[in-house]
Amino acid sequence: MEISFNSPTRPPSTHLLFLLIIPFLYTLTWPCPAAAQELLKGFEATPNPSISSFQPLLNDSSGKFSFGFLLVNSTQLALAVLHVPSSEPLWIANSTTLSRWSDRTQVFFNGSLVISDPHTTFWSTQTQGDKLVLLNNSNLQIQRGLDNSNNVPTVLWQSFDHPTNTLVETQNFTSTMTLVSSNGLYSMRLGNNFIGLYAKFDSNYDQIYWKHKALQARAQIVEGGGPIHLRVDPDGWLGMYQNETAPVDVESFNSFQRTLDGLLMVRLEPDGNLKAYYWSGSSWVLDYQAISDTCDLPSPCGSYGLCTPGTGCSCLDNSTGFSSGECPGSGSYSTDLCTDPKTQNDTKVLRREGVDVPPYKELMRYETMPSLEECENTCERNCSCYGAVYNNASGFCYILDYPIQTLLGTGDDSKVGYFKIREGAKKKRVDPGLGVGIGLLGAAFLCLVGAIGFGSYKIWMNRRRVNRMLEEETGGAMSGPYKDLGSASFKSIEMCTATATAGHR
Ligand SMILES: *[C@@H]1O[C@H](CO)[C@@H](O)[C@H](O)[C@H]1NC(C)=O
Ligand SMILES: *[C@@H]1O[C@H](CO)[C@@H](O)[C@H](O)[C@H]1NC(C)=O
Ligand SMILES: *[C@@H]1O[C@H](CO)[C@@H](O)[C@H](O)[C@H]1NC(C)=O
Ligand SMILES: *[C@@H]1O[C@H](CO)[C@@H](O)[C@H](O)[C@H]1NC(C)=O
Ligand SMILES: *[C@@H]1O[C@H](CO)[C@@H](O)[C@H](O)[C@H]1NC(C)=O
Ligand SMILES: *[C@@H]1O[C@H](CO)[C@@H](O)[C@H](O)[C@H]1NC(C)=O
Ligand SMILES: *[C@@H]1O[C@H](CO)[C@@H](O)[C@H](O)[C@H]1NC(C)=O
Ligand SMILES: *[C@@H]1O[C@H](CO)[C@@H](O)[C@H](O)[C@H]1NC(C)=O
Ligand SMILES: *[C@@H]1O[C@H](CO)[C@@H](O)[C@H](O)[C@H]1NC(C)=O
Ligand SMILES: *[C@@H]1O[C@H](CO)[C@@H](O)[C@H](O)[C@H]1NC(C)=O
Ligand SMILES: *[C@@H]1O[C@H](CO)[C@@H](O)[C@H](O)[C@H]1NC(C)=O
Repeated sequence: MEISFNSPTRPPSTHLLFLLIIPFLYTLTWPCPAAAQELLKGFEATPNPSISSFQPLLNDSSGKFSFGFLLVNSTQLALAVLHVPSSEPLWIANSTTLSRWSDRTQVFFNGSLVISDPHTTFWSTQTQGDKLVLLNNSNLQIQRGLDNSNNVPTVLWQSFDHPTNTLVETQNFTSTMTLVSSNGLYSMRLGNNFIGLYAKFDSNYDQIYWKHKALQARAQIVEGGGPIHLRVDPDGWLGMYQNETAPVDVESFNSFQRTLDGLLMVRLEPDGNLKAYYWSGSSWVLDYQAISDTCDLPSPCGSYGLCTPGTGCSCLDNSTGFSSGECPGSGSYSTDLCTDPKTQNDTKVLRREGVDVPPYKELMRYETMPSLEECENTCERNCSCYGAVYNNASGFCYILDYPIQTLLGTGDDSKVGYFKIREGAKKKRVDPGLGVGIGLLGAAFLCLVGAIGFGSYKIWMNRRRVNRMLEEETGGAMSGPYKDLGSASFKSIEMCTATATAGHR
């Protein structure tokens, strides 16, 4: 079994996760008495305190996948299905609270798969099955009996119906499911005729930032013909279907119709991108990415950052470098400017020429104003306004009514940004209430937060209106040449990577 930790083609989330799990992986010596191809009622297991990574409980017939205890955030236990050759978690049980990696925590199968300790039931499938089986496509199933007619067991529950951040080939993704990135910030859902990627910068609203509508080249979506679903095809494409006859959309990968032996997976990454990878036998090779230009990502340089195509990240406040990976002003709002009167007095103004609103700018609110001064005054007077961007050529004044994220750098000095920055506020880096699912890969989240400085996007006011506009108006996929932003831009992320690598070596 070979692992290449330094492979540039590894998914970034992997690096982050490895910070947690890899340093100790493959030093396992614990015998695995419970490992088998099915687990029956009465099965129970507790984590072995001497294992500090992954403890297999059930393998699939091919030996490529293993279900077991995954150590998360160095002390906590998650139930996971791993791709064994890469140690990559493909599925993690979505429990709101994680149990501790201790001998008081128990996993058992009594018809339900349950994680509990003497006080709490953390997670349960709430089924009444006969056995737990790991299929050779990584699907973990709870089965019951044998159907008399065709001799197949009834599936009561399967991990494929509860995806985490990853879809593997042959897995169906339906309109009732959600993929959530490991940091809990981004999610993927299906609309009636599109795939949508959403950012959760506020606990109340999800902002759509990428939308891919079905092209309907091979089949039309029939109104009232039922919801659409997705499937990763082993031939290198993501198919959108309404019925199984023909896909209503085909999003092809680099490996399109090339016969590859390796597993194909699609993952929603912590930067908000949707990527596909195939397993080459020694590393995960990037096969597709929904957003190819880094500056089109939802917040590539974090709060109060500036992303300039071809150059990379800098800060809106040009007196500071981006070297710390976090810009002045980021995380400065613990409440919005309206409800916390102190913010009114602490607020400073930052102006910057040559900046433009984010890539979904045509969907943002703007008013036509005769001058920059008027645009700024409109924002200054309104505590719902965090900033404004004025386009002197068109007279458009874009109002940013949410905590400032990454703006787009342009060479065009007629576009001027006006931003409120709260001074002297304590940096609030991690917001525990930010979203569900964070707990799962907590340290990955911490690492990412430190890296990109998402801090606390606590308040995202009045997003409903914009969301609706986006729903209605956003067109097809964003595209553009891929630009590597260079090492300086993502220094902190690389730092995490280096730590992980160093930790292992
Ligand atoms: C299951 O796989 C693990 C490695 O992932 C191995 O250590 C263990 O022996 C396997 N168990 C069985 C029963 O194949
Ligand atoms: C399995 O155990 C859980 C937790 O103790 C319990 O709530 C559930 O009723 C049990 N299920 C069966 C089928 O015994
Ligand atoms: C997986 O198992 C099925 C039967 O359950 C078999 O037909 C198929 O070839 C197997 N696939 C792989 C990749 O081993
Ligand atoms: C995990 O469960 C929560 C609700 O408890 C849900 O909001 C979230 O979307 C789930 N995560 C995934 C990946 O489905
Ligand atoms: C996905 O859905 C199709 C059509 O309903 C079905 O034939 C296929 O078996 C499903 N795949 C999995 C892995 O369940
Ligand atoms: C499935 O889609 C095809 C192509 O749009 C259509 O011809 C067919 O009638 C549909 N079948 C069902 C059962 O809806
Ligand atoms: C804000 O400043 C004004 C004038 O300097 C002062 O009167 C007011 O008390 C301050 N408000 C707060 C909440 O500090
Ligand atoms: C920073 O931006 C301001 C206003 O856009 C400009 O006047 C100043 O020269 C810039 N400073 C540096 C160091 O680039
Ligand atoms: C303040 O800004 C918000 C959000 O942009 C807007 O809905 C509201 O109408 C504005 N209030 C005033 C008084 O302009
Ligand atoms: C802005 O536009 C006005 C008239 O449209 C023009 O006089 C002025 O020079 C422009 N300012 C800049 C900075 O481009
Ligand atoms: C990760 O572990 C650290 C230290 O034990 C803890 O402070 C932090 O809250 C944990 N994060 C999550 C998301 O559980």
